Amino acid sequence: MEDTDSYLFTFKGYNFEPSLIDIDHLENLDDFEIRDDDVFIVTYPKSGTIWTQQIISSIYFEDHRNKNSHEDTLARVPFLEYNIRKVDFSKRPSPRLFATHLPYYIMPRGLKNKKAKVIYIYRNPKDVLVSFFHFSQFVTLLEVSDTLEKFMERFLDGRVVGSLWFDHVRGWYEHRHNFNILFMMYEDMKKDLRGSVLKICNFLEKKLSDEAVDAVVNLATFQNMKSDPQANYRKILKDEIGTRKDGLFLRKGTIGDWKNHLTVEQNERFDKVFQKKMKNVSLKFIWDIN
Ligand code: A3P
Repeated sequence: MEDTDSYLFTFKGYNFEPSLIDIDHLENLDDFEIRDDDVFIVTYPKSGTIWTQQIISSIYFEDHRNKNSHEDTLARVPFLEYNIRKVDFSKRPSPRLFATHLPYYIMPRGLKNKKAKVIYIYRNPKDVLVSFFHFSQFVTLLEVSDTLEKFMERFLDGRVVGSLWFDHVRGWYEHRHNFNILFMMYEDMKKDLRGSVLKICNFLEKKLSDEAVDAVVNLATFQNMKSDPQANYRKILKDEIGTRKDGLFLRKGTIGDWKNHLTVEQNERFDKVFQKKMKNVSLKFIWDIN
């Protein structure tokens, strides 16, 4: 497939997937009314969004935790900008949970006044790159790149949905004082899921019993999510997003898969860009399981 940018819709300098957005909604986002008890999961794509959606839905909703819910995870934690089910967010009961890939500067004004809570999940960008490359192979709405090399060019140029990873992470990090925000790293969640769930509960001021925490953790393991039709989005991908071939959001779920994909040269090039773009960002990064 030809490498064009017709797969992107750029609004305020940020790239969206064109067919899933509603321009009126985007234009009015600044005024979108924020409630004190709203919660936003913010991620650059492929950084652990559906994982965190699963975690916070089961923290907040007992029926979700006990697998008695009639609502799927996307109904519990819809995307703010990709409102594919055309939900009237203003009519949703509190507490409202949302997921978003938006950069800090497109977020509703109310959030910037420290109303509501933001959980920002970031992941080492080499694994994000690899995950995104695979995801783009089967999601119809995303542009396929024949090779990782070609995809890496687009990724490092920010010519992908979500724009430039470096801008996203840096922007949220540098403006963190304007938000009530918790930064979590995918790799920490992977290494210590229970500790991460507890950290999230603490930030959200949710006190769960040990059994309830165990249930949240159990529902959020990679294997359990992958085999759980409510958690793995198989149906959503097929019926609501659209796929060219089989694939799931849950692919490998590991730390350091980039080592199986990037050549030595590609890795060196990536490191150079990383060092330049992430100067003075003192977020911790873990690049491999060692
Ligand atoms: P991989 O493609 O590397 O496997 P997003 O939800 O933001 O699109 O991110 C998808 C990535 O998160 C995928 O990475 C997916 O496997 C990983 N992921 C989803 N749930 C996970 C879980 N429970 N544990 C570990 N990784 C998970």
